[in-house]
Amino acid sequence: MRPQPLPLHYTVCILLFICVPLAVGNLPHSLPWHVSCPVRCVCQIKPWFSFDSLYHEAPTVDCNDLLLTKLPSPIPKNTHTLRLQSNLLSDLDTSTLQKLPNLTDLDLSQNRFNHIRMITSGPPLRYLLALHLEENHLSHLPDSSFPSLPVLQELFLSHNNLHTISPGAFAGLDNLLRLHINNNRLTTIDPRWFKALPKLEVLMLGGNPVVALPEQAFIALKSLRSLVLGGMGLQNLAEKALDGLDQLESLSFFDNQLTKVPTAALRRVPGLKFLDLNKNRIKLIQNGDFRDMVHLKELGLNNMDDLVSIEKGALENLPELTKLEITNNPRLSYIHPHAFLKLTRLESLMLNSNSLSALHHNIMLSLPNLQEVSLHSNPLRCDCLFHQTDTQTLRVVRFIQPQATLCSEPPELRSRKVREVSTLEMSASCLPMIPSNSLPSYAGVRENGKLVLHCRALGDPQPEIYWVTPSGMKLGPNKSNLSLCYRNKHYKLLPEGTLEISKVTSHEAGLYTCIAENILGADTRSITVGVHARESRRKKANLKAFLRAEVARLELREVGERYAILSWQNVRNLPSTRLSWQAIYANLHTPTYTTRILAGTQSFNLTHLQPETFYRVCLHLGAADDTKRVSKRVRTVRKPQCVTFRTKEANEPEASLELKPELTSTAVTLLLLALILLALAGQSFEAEGQKGDHVMLSPWSQVCGGCLSASVWRPFPTRPDWSQPEGATWGPSSPGSTT
Ligand SMILES: *[C@@H]1O[C@H](CO)[C@@H](O)[C@H](O)[C@H]1NC(C)=O
Ligand SMILES: *[C@@H]1O[C@H](CO)[C@@H](O)[C@H](O)[C@H]1NC(C)=O
Ligand SMILES: *[C@@H]1O[C@H](CO)[C@@H](O)[C@H](O)[C@H]1NC(C)=O
Ligand SMILES: *[C@@H]1O[C@H](CO)[C@@H](O)[C@H](O)[C@H]1NC(C)=O
Repeated sequence: MRPQPLPLHYTVCILLFICVPLAVGNLPHSLPWHVSCPVRCVCQIKPWFSFDSLYHEAPTVDCNDLLLTKLPSPIPKNTHTLRLQSNLLSDLDTSTLQKLPNLTDLDLSQNRFNHIRMITSGPPLRYLLALHLEENHLSHLPDSSFPSLPVLQELFLSHNNLHTISPGAFAGLDNLLRLHINNNRLTTIDPRWFKALPKLEVLMLGGNPVVALPEQAFIALKSLRSLVLGGMGLQNLAEKALDGLDQLESLSFFDNQLTKVPTAALRRVPGLKFLDLNKNRIKLIQNGDFRDMVHLKELGLNNMDDLVSIEKGALENLPELTKLEITNNPRLSYIHPHAFLKLTRLESLMLNSNSLSALHHNIMLSLPNLQEVSLHSNPLRCDCLFHQTDTQTLRVVRFIQPQATLCSEPPELRSRKVREVSTLEMSASCLPMIPSNSLPSYAGVRENGKLVLHCRALGDPQPEIYWVTPSGMKLGPNKSNLSLCYRNKHYKLLPEGTLEISKVTSHEAGLYTCIAENILGADTRSITVGVHARESRRKKANLKAFLRAEVARLELREVGERYAILSWQNVRNLPSTRLSWQAIYANLHTPTYTTRILAGTQSFNLTHLQPETFYRVCLHLGAADDTKRVSKRVRTVRKPQCVTFRTKEANEPEASLELKPELTSTAVTLLLLALILLALAGQSFEAEGQKGDHVMLSPWSQVCGGCLSASVWRPFPTRPDWSQPEGATWGPSSPGSTT
């Protein structure tokens, strides 16, 4: 049922999105091992790397994919690595394993184990360093689940059905270095789990439906270096959530629901070097969000649908930051000229695929060590891009993908390559422009609620932002004595151009216009604000009762290989009730699907699902999209109701043609290969930046070794195409060089 193993180089590309043929070429080969091998198994001496990167020639018995229901026999006595991946084992004769004094690595992934004790209750396996149990059917870990593995260093429990873990489950794993419990069904994190794991360095917790971390959840993990909390539904982070992680270097919050940078919690992790906040719901990167994180080297702020602006002083005093990625944020249209302060070592600035129209020259001035920048796939205004760029900033900064870095404005320069536009062709002015993505044309707010409108504009000189209300009142910076606004209790204009309207009444409904003006001219953009009346008290009480009645009532009625039937209570649906679902096994590339539910419907048959895959399905109860600010109580009641389940295994063992299941089933093999490569990469974790002959792996990829999809951590990890080896100069080419 498993597909053929993929060629190694292909494998490496999939896992790390970086092809490293050199390393592959250097991998030692398998050697024959003359021994009486169990029927249908393969016995060879294979390379094996310990966690401290030491190479071993490991006598390996490979019995993968053999539909085994019990251990094969005879297993050669000096077996080091025993692979039983993808069989039908649900029970294990541990006394057989006991007779293998050198057994170091045991792979039981993709089997049928229901109970951990089936594996660990026997006599101790004194030399076992790695145990693979991913993709089994474990649902609970009782106290002392692993009593017989005194030296275990790496434990894989990902992609099971774990929903409860007893506080003392990991007791006895004093030497564990890496723990993978991602993609299970845990809804909370219990700090007591980790008391038994003083040496743990890597913890993968992603893909569990945990909405909030308890305070000091990881306080016991004094040695932890890498923590992955991707795909968990985290909405915010308590200030003390990350306390005690004194050694933590790499942290990922990929694909959560964070609406702000969790600054307070991050400040308490002083050693952090690599931070991934990709794919969250952050709207603004605000002043001080990243300040004084003195060891931070790489920061990822990609794939955020809600991000509109990077504000003044958003990144300040990050003396070690060398790489900053802010890409694929479809609404990001503004970076304040002073957004980046004291980033003295920044070398690589990735800003492609946003809605940026220009980059202020101050940004370049504030980055004395910048070597490469990517700006392609932005609606660039070439009349503004390098306006007033003085010779100081005309340093050699390499454009990434210069062929794709095109002007979209002004009309006469459209589709020209930015680097081929000469200074003479640029106009002498840079009129203010409010990017169309920054303001929607309509926003609804509930009466007495609060509405926040972000208006940003680029121009040179930096434009001033004013707002004009439906009643004609002009709200502007108070220095120009337009301080009327400060007398109106409803309005507040924030320095960067955000208008806050609080305690909205129906009088505040209407057309609001944002005006951005500098000495050269002005641009305007309008938005209609609708105010929805509050329901009468009784109606509201009814609504609450209705919503509460619904809480936790989404149920899984039936599940098959490719469908699942969900049902909920028989009550009237609100008009905009929706059902959303998402496969959760490979966090990144699984889109969320949504369907509207007709009034009166009580169940839904979700079809076209993949077999053997976790899905998270949520029922969203009538949360109208236009009510951005409903009262907190109503909002909590309105939390979507979710269930997570796993579809059944496919019956026919024929290989599926779909990509995803293939990836899953080969993932474990790939994982091993990745670990080998990681080992080859040696201590590159420390030596990031020293480019030599060695394979350089980003720590995010490294983190990803265990999570089956590196793409999760590096959504755009492929090196851009350096099709212009000579590099493009930052700034317009001189008139003479234009052909
Ligand atoms: C186990 O490994 C050691 C060291 O590599 C070796 O000396 C010993 O013979 C092995 N034991 C068996 C039963 O093969
Ligand atoms: C604007 O108003 C704020 C407080 O309302 C005040 O602190 C600030 O000094 C004023 N700025 C100017 C330029 O008058
Ligand atoms: C602004 O208003 C203050 C009093 O509110 C007044 O003293 C001052 O002269 C005004 N400045 C301008 C430039 O109009
Ligand atoms: C749900 O859909 C699946 C796939 O189309 C189908 O086989 C199954 O019978 C349906 N179940 C119900 C109750 O309609």
